[in-house]
Amino acid sequence: MSERYAVFGNPVAHSKSPLIHMAFARQSAQDMSYEAILAPLDGFAAAVRAFAESGGCGANVTVPFKEDAFRLATRLSGRATKAAAVNTLKFDNGEILGDNTDGIGLVRDIRENLKFSLAKKHILLLGAGGAARGVIMPLLAESPASLTIANRTVEKADALREHFDNIESSSYGALAGRQFDLVINATSSGLTDEMPALPNGIYADGALAYDMMYGRETRFMRFSRTHGATVADGLGMLVEQAAEAFFIWRGVHPQTAPVISRLRG
Ligand code: ATR
Repeated sequence: MSERYAVFGNPVAHSKSPLIHMAFARQSAQDMSYEAILAPLDGFAAAVRAFAESGGCGANVTVPFKEDAFRLATRLSGRATKAAAVNTLKFDNGEILGDNTDGIGLVRDIRENLKFSLAKKHILLLGAGGAARGVIMPLLAESPASLTIANRTVEKADALREHFDNIESSSYGALAGRQFDLVINATSSGLTDEMPALPNGIYADGALAYDMMYGRETRFMRFSRTHGATVADGLGMLVEQAAEAFFIWRGVHPQTAPVISRLRG
């Protein structure tokens, strides 16, 4: 019988993870299955345990369960501990290993797919929720010149600055007059067709604007294009975080480029 994997979310029907992981499995001739499981909002832990007990080997975790997964794990990787969120679980002899591959997925997409080096760059990260928090350590590991977190509720950005060394925090208003080489939108503002209140002139020459959202043209993308930045959506990050999860489970690094272009097509 092939080994079972799944993504847990609510909602989850829209998830591209089954498609991505089955493409990786075909590519590397791995005998495995991957399904999407809708967990009740108050029943995540029970759903995951039932899956593990019925022979599941590992799982991805998506909205809104990444903090629940962090609490459920019996062992955590360093990057999951720092992110305080888990998107990848591996079941191992009664233990539940929790990891977080979102940050490395973002960094690999920017560095390797978009060929944009993060070293010595001035980076602005928009948002201070779970999505932003999960990418801070991997961004810092690339040795940027600076990393600034800006958030509508500035106290949340200040709290992150207390938690991580070497980051700055800011309100959107206080960004006026500053310029960045890379601006990453980790807010959920695109869901309501809004965007953070960025000042004009925020983009340095040759800047990249990265929206973690995919599948829609957000206001942030439109603003960034109008203000001279190169614009990328989060589809590459989605595939790269999946590839790192696949590696954790199967010990194989899948090729991501063909899967990204197939999803774009
Ligand atoms: P996630 O897990 O996706 O990060 P979250 O923890 O709810 O979700 O965080 C959502 C983030 O998007 C927050 O930083 C939020 O800003 P506030 O902390 O001020 O609420 C940000 N956000 C959501 N809608 C926004 C909008 N219209 N403009 C600016 N920021 C927005």
